Amino acid sequence: MKYLYIQTFGCQMNFHDSDQMAALLERSGYRITDDLAASDLVIINTCSVREKAEQKAHSFMGRLGKLKRERRVIIGIAGCLAQQWGKEFLARIPHLDFVLGTHNIHRLPEIVEEIEKSGTRVAETSFHEKVKSLEIYTPSRNGHVTSCVTIMQGCNNFCSFCIVPHLRGREESRPSGHIVDEIRRLAASGIREVMLLGQNVNSYGNTLAGSPGFPELLAMINDIEGVERIRFTTSHPKDLSEDLMKCFGSLEKLCEHIHLPVQSGSDRVLTRMNRRYTSEEYLEKVRTLRAYCPGISISSDIIVGFPGEEEEDFQKTIDLMEKVIFDTSFSFKYSARPGIVAQEFEGRVDEKTKSRRLSLLQAVQERHTLQVNRSLVGGIVDVLVESVSRNDAFEITGRSRSHKIVNFSGDSSSIGRIVPVRITAAFAHSLRGERESGREVTQC
Ligand code: 5AD
Ligand code: SF4
Repeated sequence: MKYLYIQTFGCQMNFHDSDQMAALLERSGYRITDDLAASDLVIINTCSVREKAEQKAHSFMGRLGKLKRERRVIIGIAGCLAQQWGKEFLARIPHLDFVLGTHNIHRLPEIVEEIEKSGTRVAETSFHEKVKSLEIYTPSRNGHVTSCVTIMQGCNNFCSFCIVPHLRGREESRPSGHIVDEIRRLAASGIREVMLLGQNVNSYGNTLAGSPGFPELLAMINDIEGVERIRFTTSHPKDLSEDLMKCFGSLEKLCEHIHLPVQSGSDRVLTRMNRRYTSEEYLEKVRTLRAYCPGISISSDIIVGFPGEEEEDFQKTIDLMEKVIFDTSFSFKYSARPGIVAQEFEGRVDEKTKSRRLSLLQAVQERHTLQVNRSLVGGIVDVLVESVSRNDAFEITGRSRSHKIVNFSGDSSSIGRIVPVRITAAFAHSLRGERESGREVTQC
């Protein structure tokens, strides 16, 4: 038996890519391990959206030099950083055996086999018009009740701060029939919830002649027996159509949560970011969403310290947050990335200002999250039970339809079931509750 250790940095998309790599290599006799010292093959799946993720990958890579000196082990780098630096990595890092770009996951088994046989070093970063990895089936992991399904890859938007389109290539949608087949297989294997993945799922189908659009795809998935819940990420606000917003009120399996990154509340900054919507247009979409689906949970990504962001621009972001009241948000200091358009912009914001703005913004978000969570106390929510708590065999955890973590008493027999829970306490990152015998659900 050979053992594979994968270290993943970055977003859900990357974690799903790692699952695909593990699934492919399993067919070549590799079993996944969480013991680095026992591994025969180590893959670092990297992200280059922000500098911090890049630094973490480099420091992990540095530690592997010692492992390579001690024993025979194959070491590879995958993901966005691999795409960005290609064979330069082989020159810079002597203990590295292969570099695998974002369009080449499907080639992983043959690359590993070649290295096992001949010890050659390989860098494969070519872009393909049809990305074969879209079709790699990832079986549900033992005991898991939710699974990610890629519906498209790449991005055509070119937000000026973002390196993704440069490293993941142009947008490509996967045929709807393939997506439906995969979800049927997952449902038959016990998966209850699917998370549909794409850089901008709202433009699903645009690049495929005759393809259904995203709302139609959701309706097709809604009809699949065995699937109880549907989620998706990420949505670009400019492409959020009225038809899609209506789905939240009409498709019973579509969960009442949308991740809708606003990035900034200042129109001046939004224009420079090339986001192609104004703050008022964003607010209007939020109002429409709430009209179709009262109580829908809305989360966001926000960047502070974008080049040229003045104090009053930042204040506009806070004002927008006060109007929307996001359930949660992920906030970041602008991170300089080589090759992105924003690097050419004037008005670099200093690190101290960025840190101050970030802390202020996060304090506002914490207040809002608590406010939303407290409003749920006393109500009943449906919880899809995902696992038993690590520290207590009689404590179980799952998520409400609005994607909130809910902890309550129970045991492993509830895993995979949807259980009504009365919320008794609210915290910043989770809710506590008690199993309710009645079926009447009052909130999402
Ligand atoms: N600096 C900071 N944050 C960024 N993001 C993308 N690029 C950058 C950057 N250069 C954030 C955006 C995006 C999320 C995935 O990462 O908010 O929505
Ligand atoms: Fe990046 Fe913008 Fe595409 Fe999202 S929509 S991946 S932020 S370029």
